[in-house]
Amino acid sequence: MAFSPQFLDELRTRVGLADVIGRRVRLTRKGREHLGLCPFHKEKTPSFTVNEEKGFYHCFGCGEHGSAIDFVMKTEGLSFPEAVERLAAEAGMEVPVDSPEERERARRRQTLFEVMEAAAAFYARALRMPEGKAALDYLRGRGLDDPIIARFGLGFAPDTRGALKGAVARAGIDEDQLVAAGLMKRPDDGRDPFDYFRRRIMFPITDKRGRTIAFGGRILGEGEPKYLNSPDTPLFNKGRVLYGLAQAAPTAHKSGEVVVAEGYMDVIALNRAGFEAAVAPLGTALTEDQITLLWRLAPEPVVCFDGDAAGARAQARAAERVLPLLKPGFSLRFAILPQGEDPDSLIEGQGRDALARTLAAAMPLSDALWLLESGGRNIKTPEECAALDDRLKKHALRIDDATVRSHFLSAFKDRLWRELRGAGRRQPTTTATGVEAAIHVDSLLLAQRVLIAIVINHLGLFDHFEEDLGSVAYSDGPLDALRQDLITVINEGQELDSHRVREALRERGHAATLRGLFGDPLISRHRLIGSAASADQVRATWNENFALLQDSAVRAQIEAGRTVGAEGYSDEDWQRQRALIKASQDKPESEEPEVAPPRRRTP
Ligand code: UTP
Ligand code: MN
Repeated sequence: MAFSPQFLDELRTRVGLADVIGRRVRLTRKGREHLGLCPFHKEKTPSFTVNEEKGFYHCFGCGEHGSAIDFVMKTEGLSFPEAVERLAAEAGMEVPVDSPEERERARRRQTLFEVMEAAAAFYARALRMPEGKAALDYLRGRGLDDPIIARFGLGFAPDTRGALKGAVARAGIDEDQLVAAGLMKRPDDGRDPFDYFRRRIMFPITDKRGRTIAFGGRILGEGEPKYLNSPDTPLFNKGRVLYGLAQAAPTAHKSGEVVVAEGYMDVIALNRAGFEAAVAPLGTALTEDQITLLWRLAPEPVVCFDGDAAGARAQARAAERVLPLLKPGFSLRFAILPQGEDPDSLIEGQGRDALARTLAAAMPLSDALWLLESGGRNIKTPEECAALDDRLKKHALRIDDATVRSHFLSAFKDRLWRELRGAGRRQPTTTATGVEAAIHVDSLLLAQRVLIAIVINHLGLFDHFEEDLGSVAYSDGPLDALRQDLITVINEGQELDSHRVREALRERGHAATLRGLFGDPLISRHRLIGSAASADQVRATWNENFALLQDSAVRAQIEAGRTVGAEGYSDEDWQRQRALIKASQDKPESEEPEVAPPRRRTP
């Protein structure tokens, strides 16, 4: 089957190259490119590069080279049409049948591009005509010079009837085509079609390659609506497009950063101030498609909407919408503008540095959700804490990706705990801190062992745990060495089973540490981490213990507890450990711990 070049083009834009390849190859971002171990030849150091901007992968080791379609053909053994169909299905695109009708439709789409181009040229010309003088003065008054007007192809749609139709007629474009392009509207009552945009400053909306596919029009002077967008056409679907994308892409690919503003004029103001990687949705909340587009530009786009109630609502919606889509390394950040400002007015009033500071202070998604749900208030009581906990958990549970989800859950737990401790610290506390420290040190040692045991017993889940395990602070020297070698051994080995991992660790001198670890009855008899435990049980146990180790206050006590060796635990200590973790997550620390201090065995 022959596919039209337009279709293949659209397919390549809609499917992200790094997404397709990322399913088979673990990629890390290095500047403009992604890097990974080549799937086409055996190698230990990565020489396989993926360039999203150019749409190609290339291996410097073996010379393999190609597009997303080539990659799917080669790795899945598919023919060209099969690979195209597979990718199109994933992108939710219909594969055009090669029929005369389809060829006709492709031709009409092509003509629509030409219609839009002719219209954009007409509007740009009109801006320089006497009837466009007021519009040009307005733009100049807002600080726009000729280069920026040209960069964004700005124009003016005059109020004169039939001007557009007359102007494009010379290019052989008729009324029906203008209606199809959304530039004229034919009333239902049979009256003559009229211009869709009148007395408006025209902002061409382009696809990523810079071809005009629609317009936004701002009324000159008073009038409603202030902004009007083209209706949806075969070229334009407003939820799938970002204003400014074509202008932003080269800079964003270079810097790995992009700003998402609310409006047309914000994007242009950002450009004027030197932030060329700036885009905006078209007057609606960010859609999934737009988030996907953004992630092709940068892993953590900064959302910077207007500092008013509507802007805050739109940011909240964006934060909620991105949750199910999150994947490791990709998120959104949120910049908060001063009340009443948008990026345009802030740059105008306080200069580009003020905006740069705002962008630099953008907060991660988890903080934005926290702020949204806590309203920025201090948490003082367990009741408030429980209510907030509940709301935050609901957000976190909407995250599909298990790794990201567990990190959000523990980050929220961690912060709730810290906040309550903070509240407690402001009041005098009667807790005997010495006892607390002892409990912590014991349970921390156990938590450290639990994580290692989980990884060894459930190698299949290592992907979920690797990042946690790599980042956690271990106080016990031998155990920490074991932790590091464990990561190395698993990463180096292929299809290792638990038995062989232990073997490899013993060879690296960890025999005694392993004996101590698996000799601990709390580990060896623990139902929730043994090889019979379900993935869900294991993950839950992991999260609890990881959260405990992650708490910064606790980390300080890990430091303090370096001298405590592995005295071992009594069997019922495990109960205490679970109770302690629960207490630490659900309760203010200043309260008397529910559980008794540990009974130490005297050696
Ligand atoms: P704003 O009202 O904040 O406009 O709407 P703005 O971008 O700051 O524009 P200026 O500075 O007043 O010229 C933000 C965005 O919301 C959409 C547009 O995309 C606009 O850029 N919008 C706004 C509409 O689609 N229709 C409207 O009537 C108003
Ligand atoms: Mn605004």
